[in-house]
Amino acid sequence: MVVSEAREQVLLVDDNPQNLKILYDTLDSGHYRLLLANNGEKALAIAEKSKPDLILLDIMMPGMDGYQVCETLKSNPLLRDIPVIFLSALDDVESKVKGFEKGGVDYIAKPFQPREVVSRVATQIKLRRLEQALKEKNRELSADNIEMQQKLEAQREQLAHFSRLSTMGEMAAGFAHEVNQPLTAITNYSRVAHRLLGDESDDNTVMNKKMLETTLNKLEAQSHRASEVIQRIRGFVKKPTSGKTQFDVQSLLSDVVQFAEVDAKNNRGQITLELPYELPIVEADAIQVQQVTLNLIRNALEATSSCEQEHLAHEDSLSVLVTAKADREFVWVEVKDKGCGLADDAEEKLFHPFYTTKGEGMGIGLSLCQSLIQAQGGKIGFRRNSDRGTTFYFSLPIADASE
Ligand SMILES: Nc1ncnc2c1ncn2[C@@H]1O[C@H](COP(=O)(O)OP(=O)(O)O)[C@@H](O)[C@H]1O
Ligand SMILES: [Mg+2]
Repeated sequence: MVVSEAREQVLLVDDNPQNLKILYDTLDSGHYRLLLANNGEKALAIAEKSKPDLILLDIMMPGMDGYQVCETLKSNPLLRDIPVIFLSALDDVESKVKGFEKGGVDYIAKPFQPREVVSRVATQIKLRRLEQALKEKNRELSADNIEMQQKLEAQREQLAHFSRLSTMGEMAAGFAHEVNQPLTAITNYSRVAHRLLGDESDDNTVMNKKMLETTLNKLEAQSHRASEVIQRIRGFVKKPTSGKTQFDVQSLLSDVVQFAEVDAKNNRGQITLELPYELPIVEADAIQVQQVTLNLIRNALEATSSCEQEHLAHEDSLSVLVTAKADREFVWVEVKDKGCGLADDAEEKLFHPFYTTKGEGMGIGLSLCQSLIQAQGGKIGFRRNSDRGTTFYFSLPIADASE
């Protein structure tokens, strides 16, 4: 006969060989694999080794009695889930209650009816199977959940990257202009250098050499300036971001502001950065935080320039203010504009994907900002300024000093 490995194991424990034999014959139907023990210590050793699915346990035994065996099983995390059915000639209520108190799931009085034993065992085994299946399902579900979150995270990353690329596309004209300036300067300085080289009159040589050196230095500085712009673009469009790191918000903000100024020139706006002397270090994904800040600044600039005519009289109304402050847990960054303000129904819609009031807008900026900031463990929000325009803010968790 082929013994199926999938059969449940039932451990039978009784000190009386006669009883053990009857019990064995009762359950020897081929449904279960039967294990036998004639005292408490052996029962525990077998339980530990074979992890049976059910134990039929006699109460009165020399040495360790059934209650003690059960107690020992229940105190072992690896064995405590094995159901125990007590078997005993003690048919008083007290011993039954004690059996349940010790963690038994059922109680069979001796002498037993074989059919009763068979059906009680079958019931416990069925429950056991259901329980195992449930556990397995739970495991699968939580594995699915983790997978789902990983997928969501990958999607957020991709969307963020796509959005950074598209921002760069929109800012391309500004960048071209930004790089063109040093390039023009480089051309001019090279001309000057050539001219200085061409001038060979003796009395000018020393002075020319000095001037040549100055010119070359300026040329070098301009080429640095150009490559810095390109470096910054590269950093920004980088695909996989570096994940969470610890960084200081001041330098990140001043980087982003410099970056956004390229845009500010296009929009005729200007950006003012006002920071406290010191801010705690935060822990977040720096590129994503840059991206959020840049989005908010660009929105603010767009809001400002879209109603420029109305306030043309106030030069300062063109300015977007970027500030930051800290409380115990977070650093809060604010982007404040004096633009045309929000639509009345903005509250419900603002952070929804594809909500836009702009002809060329995509409406994913703010919804992306929200999901990026939430992924950092921060919050994002806005308020209508009392005088004019809107303030958007977000928070970043302060890096735990104890770590
Ligand atoms: N600073 C702001 N002032 C006024 N309205 C704003 C501001 N920022 C965002 N909005 C509104 O929210 C909408 C959605 O913004 P966003 O998600 O960045 O998409 P987009 O900029 O492509 O329109 C904008 O179209 C605009 O109506
Ligand atoms: Mg936007």
